[in-house]
Amino acid sequence: MAIQWFPGHMHVTQKAIKERIKDIDVVIELLDARLPGASRNPLLDQITGHRLRLKVLNKQDLADPERTEAWLAHYNGLKDTRAIALDASDKAPAQRLIKACRELAPHRSGMDKPLRVLICGIPNVGKSTLMNTLVGRKAAKTGDEAGVTRMEQRINLASDFYLFDTPGMLWPKLTVEKGGYHLAASGAVGRNAYDEEEVALELLQSLKGPYPHLLQARYKLDPSLDIAQAHEDTLLEAIGRKRGAVIGGNRVNTTKAAEVVLNDFRQNLLGRVTLETPEQFAQWQAEADAREAALQKVREEKAKGRKRSFRGERESWEQPGQGPESADSEDGTDSEQA
Ligand code: G4P
Repeated sequence: MAIQWFPGHMHVTQKAIKERIKDIDVVIELLDARLPGASRNPLLDQITGHRLRLKVLNKQDLADPERTEAWLAHYNGLKDTRAIALDASDKAPAQRLIKACRELAPHRSGMDKPLRVLICGIPNVGKSTLMNTLVGRKAAKTGDEAGVTRMEQRINLASDFYLFDTPGMLWPKLTVEKGGYHLAASGAVGRNAYDEEEVALELLQSLKGPYPHLLQARYKLDPSLDIAQAHEDTLLEAIGRKRGAVIGGNRVNTTKAAEVVLNDFRQNLLGRVTLETPEQFAQWQAEADAREAALQKVREEKAKGRKRSFRGERESWEQPGQGPESADSEDGTDSEQA
């Protein structure tokens, strides 16, 4: 895997979520609508158990509306789960969040049974922007209360609706490789954890099939180039040439070309795109799970092998005249003295 980082503070965040979760009715998971599979935290299910779940596809203004509909249908089809799409231009996000959470947990209402909601999301998904809108317009910030850790803040979206915030969190191991590349392209992963060229190539691979017209419109590529069928190396080189990223010997500076592609994606200059469909992501997930299961089997076999050889060694030591003592006595040394 080309994307690696040291997720030290992520453990602290996980711990904070684990501590809070017992008092929570609904978990809001803020997803990037351009990567609704990759931006979903696989550890969250383990940490939050069977809590009711609201998936919010944030930054919907940047995503492909058709694919957003497909993802909403997918997530709305899951047990105990609702999904809505949102973006920063929404002037009243609180109403939509409250409504969706109340539909999920109608049994929680009134001052004696307030609806307690936890909001989680990966870095850069737009959580601060959303929280600022919520705090600024609708809510009283009550983060200094006893029982509310410094890691999180609580805001009251209504007298019987508490929203607990958590810091942006990634997870330590990106098993879905393609998802890792999408996360890196989105800016969720620190710059030092990956190779930009590799990420740009994977991004072009995800874009070229569904959005050849957007790549054509942005980079004015040679019309004879069949973008959807072209290899991503060819696309990166063509983009580099168009952008003047050429070095000695008329060669393309692919590092520079990769920077162009990633910046354009991050600054939303390509148009509305979504990098994955529910079906694609399910397939990548299944492949990753199968790989992990095979790896686990190898690990277990190795551990068994180690145990067997240790047991064999011990048995041979326990035979009279065998083992370290006999080796010692052969050259006349007492094992205890040695
Ligand atoms: P985080 O707390 O989850 O890490 O994310 P944050 O709110 O800081 O948002 C990350 C970037 O995404 C910001 O842009 C923010 O403006 C942008 N953003 C947030 N929500 C939306 C949305 O719904 N639609 C769009 N198009 N953009 C959104 P930035 O360039 O990093 O900072 P800024 O200069 O815009 O503040």
